[in-house]
Amino acid sequence: MVSAMLNGAESLCLTRGIVQYSYGFSGSDLYGKNLSKLGLVSCCNLTNFPRIRSKKMNTLVPKCSLSTPRPASQPRFIQHKKEAFWFYRFLSIVYDHVINPGHWTEDMREDALEPAELNSRKLTVVDVGGGTGFTTLGIVKKVDAKNVTILDQSPHQLAKAREKEELKDCKIIEGDAEDLPFPTDYADRYISAGSIEYWPDPQRGIKEAYRVLKLGGKACLIGPVYPTFWLSRFFADVWMLFPKEEEYIDWFQKAGFKDVQLKRIGPKWYRGVRRHGLIMGCSVTGVKRASGDSPLQLGPKTEDVEKPVHPLVFLYRFILGALAGTYYVLLPIYMWLKDQIVPKGQPI
Ligand SMILES: C[S@@+](CC[C@H](N)C(=O)[O-])C[C@H]1O[C@@H](n2cnc3c(N)ncnc32)[C@H](O)[C@@H]1O
Repeated sequence: MVSAMLNGAESLCLTRGIVQYSYGFSGSDLYGKNLSKLGLVSCCNLTNFPRIRSKKMNTLVPKCSLSTPRPASQPRFIQHKKEAFWFYRFLSIVYDHVINPGHWTEDMREDALEPAELNSRKLTVVDVGGGTGFTTLGIVKKVDAKNVTILDQSPHQLAKAREKEELKDCKIIEGDAEDLPFPTDYADRYISAGSIEYWPDPQRGIKEAYRVLKLGGKACLIGPVYPTFWLSRFFADVWMLFPKEEEYIDWFQKAGFKDVQLKRIGPKWYRGVRRHGLIMGCSVTGVKRASGDSPLQLGPKTEDVEKPVHPLVFLYRFILGALAGTYYVLLPIYMWLKDQIVPKGQPI
């Protein structure tokens, strides 16, 4: 039923299918155990992702999962533009003070931005889905604020960014990550942190990242990672998009990027645990290989911000999606308590 509702009233149907592969995370309580012998998982090699393969990792298929991973092409409740807009209408009030400390800390931000190579103050940088400017605060430490543009679809989030003294010289504009108002070959760096989970068509957003970059420019996309624990998977699938690591790499490669790399990040007090997924779990980078648009051809947009949504469809997506999101507000507190209780050096 939930799966049917996730699809929206437009396409009410029951889903049945094969459990797709998911990833065993280093530092998770799954990693390093011979789970295939225990009958909990099956393994296969990742031949397409040399960087990941070099870490001697296998793909793991949790057989105990209750929920079937949803393909990214079937948006979750808040993975819609209008729903995300209203979600941030309220969340922006507490975002910096209540949400970020549990998921996206300053040390994580420095760690995640490091592969972006912000190595000159003169770089032209776009921060897409920049919201209240938390990530931009990390960017302007390395790049002159006048060269940085913050784009977001939420005026409420952007209003918070405008209040920040360090960001007063940044350009701050409303816009859609899947249809960027920048010319082709414009920026040296494309940064987007914690926004992809709301994009109904993530591949399109990454194709846009490619288009707006200059030749040799670098995209750095920071986003969630998919949980392996069944309850966390359930709430993740109801709430928003938690891509698998291999999906990020696939999207980047399809958009035309070369040198695609994925760096794992996470809050310190999780002690590397990734079984519950993470809202900020990885930083993916890629370099634009040729000037001009992305070689990837896509059909028409799957969702237009201007297109009206039936009020009832909107309401049930919004209420159920926001409720599911509450689980992920509480999770870092649970992990923090575990970190306090379990002796240091022991897994939690
Ligand atoms: C979790 S916040 C991240 C904000 C900021 N990057 C940070 O690091 O704190 C996600 C942001 O993405 C924005 N967003 C969601 N969908 C978007 C879209 N299609 N285009 C532009 N921004 C979008 C939301 O409005 C929100 O401000």
